[in-house]
Amino acid sequence: MAKKQNSFSLNFDTDWNYSPAPESTSHVEIKEKYDLFIGGKFVKPKSGKYFDTINPATEKSLAKVAEANEKDVDSAVKSARKAFKPWSELPASERAKYIFRIARLIQERAREFAVIESLDGGKPIKESRDIDIPLAAAHFFYYAGWADKLEYAFPNRKIKPLGVAGQIIPWNFPLLMAAWKIAPALACGNTVVLKPAETTSLTALKLAELIADSDLPEGVVNIVTGAGKTGAAIVNHPDIDKIAFTGSTEVGKIIQRAIAGTNKKATLELGGKAANIIFEDAPIDQAVEGVINGIFFNQGHVCCAGSRLFIQESIKDEVEKKLKMRLETLRIGDPLDKNTDIGAINSKGQLETIEAYLEIGKQEGLTSFQPSYSLPKKGYYCKPTLFFDVSQSSRLSKEEIFGPVLAIQTFRTVDEVIEKANNTPYGLSAGVWTDKGSKAFNLSSQLKAGVVWANTFNKFDPASPFGGFKESGFGREGGMHGLEAYLSIK
Ligand code: NAI
Ligand code: MG
Repeated sequence: MAKKQNSFSLNFDTDWNYSPAPESTSHVEIKEKYDLFIGGKFVKPKSGKYFDTINPATEKSLAKVAEANEKDVDSAVKSARKAFKPWSELPASERAKYIFRIARLIQERAREFAVIESLDGGKPIKESRDIDIPLAAAHFFYYAGWADKLEYAFPNRKIKPLGVAGQIIPWNFPLLMAAWKIAPALACGNTVVLKPAETTSLTALKLAELIADSDLPEGVVNIVTGAGKTGAAIVNHPDIDKIAFTGSTEVGKIIQRAIAGTNKKATLELGGKAANIIFEDAPIDQAVEGVINGIFFNQGHVCCAGSRLFIQESIKDEVEKKLKMRLETLRIGDPLDKNTDIGAINSKGQLETIEAYLEIGKQEGLTSFQPSYSLPKKGYYCKPTLFFDVSQSSRLSKEEIFGPVLAIQTFRTVDEVIEKANNTPYGLSAGVWTDKGSKAFNLSSQLKAGVVWANTFNKFDPASPFGGFKESGFGREGGMHGLEAYLSIK
């Protein structure tokens, strides 16, 4: 029998206040079958093939989704090419109006998007509702605002849109990643062929419906569904001017090789293995909350997750005890329950990957902790897990697990922790918990990471750029920097 859990909930540091629409007024519709969105219309795939998208909490199919082959991708690219000239020549303030309209429509249908996001991807509804969907709308609002101010962003420079952007996104923040990609591309005058990840296509397809309703000129945004082969067809299409990719470092490298020697531009946002560092002078309870949020937010399917914890030795016992207590209070289960803190793992494949890492930890002889409650019988679930005294050479501290698994290490001095934290092929994000501003500033300049949070974690804002160093990729998304990725600047 499942042990009764307390009612504490994950405390997210977020400013996005969203009031959900009353239940009775919004109907969540999932169709039986989804076609491809090309040239402003839903069209049947030339491949004739469809695949199931699964609800990871029930292991049942939610809908059939079209699988685009090379010919389908080619029609999408042709449609985007045809739309490019008129769209890029539209007065920028007109382009902005469409992007604002998309933002408002997302807000209006926020509840529907949130429910579908949680059904298709397994994330807790409070995250979809309070973070993913409002932030997606915020990105469209933010970049709509830039559309007619590009010459102020790049004064005395000659700027031009790149053309047709091929955008390939992952399954961890499906609608939000679509917004990160589409909004700046449109604001700069490009047209788009976007491919969502194969386990989470539904909110992108819902966005396609919304885009059709918004009267955006046809072909400006095309959405094709499918898995890696479809993604590769976009990458290899000769009439694509830019590839924007978020996903695994492995596929990022394949893409880099594929476009070498072509004129295609690329931005790649890849994996991470972020250090979250607690100094003895930190407000401990607040830091513990930040660590919990840092690794268990979205089941740990977060490229910037704080998956390596460094605790200063003098407070090791206290922090570890508090973390264990906190784990016992987290609620794991039905993603649609608004009290759920940890939902379902996105796919069976990802659950197997995470479980393989739990086994590696065991084989390495590491001490671990998991809460005592039991998991739901059906669905892809994984207990939040702590591993203690993990060495620098352990695979758990070197490799991205992308699940609710925290590798804990200790340190004595500032120099020691900087060296340890930077000892990774990744460099996407990091967190520092301290009462001393000087220490926070010192670390933020010495940690090799695109984003360093001080006394907070996983805080996002459309106005601040996001992106990595080293194997975490290159290029920035968000903020004014995010515009550069979609412009040719002379
Ligand atoms: P993936 O990199 O295979 O998937 C990301 C996207 O790329 C999906 O849309 C997929 O269909 C597409 N794709 C796959 N192969 C492609 C190819 N050859 N050419 C073009 N597009 C292709 O990631 P996957 O297999 O779902 O997850 C594996 C690991 O990658 C995770 O365990 C995690 O460590 C990491 N990952 C990191 C993400 C991030 O946000 N940085 C997001 C997703 C995964
Ligand atoms: Mg799914």
